[in-house]
Amino acid sequence: MSKYLLETEGLTKTFPLADGSSVHAVENVSIQVNHSETLAIVGESGCGKSTLANLVCRLLDPTSGRVKLNGEDITSLNTTAMRPYRREMQMIFQDPYASLDPRRTVGDSVSEPLLIHGQAKRGAELQDRVASLFSKVGLQEDDMERFPHQFSGGQRQRVCIARALTLAPKLVIADESVSALDVSVQAQVINLMMDLQDEMKLSYLFITHDLAVVERMAHRVAVMYLGQVVEIGPRAAVFENPTHSYTRKLLDAAPIADPRQRRERPLLTGEIPSPRWPKGEAPQLVNLVEVGDGHLVAKE
Ligand SMILES: Nc1ncnc2c1ncn2[C@@H]1O[C@H](COP(=O)(O)OP(=O)(O)O)[C@@H](O)[C@H]1O
Ligand SMILES: [Mg+2]
Repeated sequence: MSKYLLETEGLTKTFPLADGSSVHAVENVSIQVNHSETLAIVGESGCGKSTLANLVCRLLDPTSGRVKLNGEDITSLNTTAMRPYRREMQMIFQDPYASLDPRRTVGDSVSEPLLIHGQAKRGAELQDRVASLFSKVGLQEDDMERFPHQFSGGQRQRVCIARALTLAPKLVIADESVSALDVSVQAQVINLMMDLQDEMKLSYLFITHDLAVVERMAHRVAVMYLGQVVEIGPRAAVFENPTHSYTRKLLDAAPIADPRQRRERPLLTGEIPSPRWPKGEAPQLVNLVEVGDGHLVAKE
């Protein structure tokens, strides 16, 4: 077993635009996720979080840099070669409605990965496996026969979690997966995800703009700004000793008070500079320096 479950090395994604300029969405990102650990990626809209998630699970090819899963370099694998690794990492998105087929029962949607990967045949065995997944995520067996529109938002997200877990992945990439839920429902789904982490030894790459969620769930936190990680470290170090000026701004914008008030407002109100650069120009790469145990901060 490799030391890290997930490792990225200098991961970079640039989107060239028609006028010759380009968007530097993710720039030289090197992160590690340990086994059974939650690494939260935080930062404002447009800082490159979703692009990073898509690079990690190989939905996008990087411009440069590498992705390693359990020590194996998966950066250049084609679809067929990626197949066994696909089972190891699953994604959960913000809008469970969009990721479920409205015309199929949710039981069918959760069965699908098992059938596609030849892990089960139709029949009683499949039924039992899906039923046990439903109970794991706090849904009833009867729910398998229902359609997505017959559920609340929180229940639908539970269905998506069940589907993500069908193939017993090691890494779950959650992209704003609880951001659209009401605070009380959100707390229940977060508790469920934490219980499942213990039970199934899951690692989460947990992407969110919501610092209250990070405080609750994350073991480690990476702060992204304009495509680059500007601060990364254990949750307590980042929250109690925020060192980069941008991290401080983020925390100031979200005073540690009532989480109900916190999530109502945007993270920051100031203008974020554009990650779009004219032809031939590129952002300056930050230089991370260790300021504490595993706590790294970009030099300013
Ligand atoms: N396919 C694309 N083509 C051009 N620009 C893109 C594309 N995808 C994302 N971007 C840009 O890359 C930047 C990062 O986007 P994204 O990763 O979605 O950020 P976040 O998830 O943090 O909101 C944004 O400026 C966005 O507009
Ligand atoms: Mg996003």
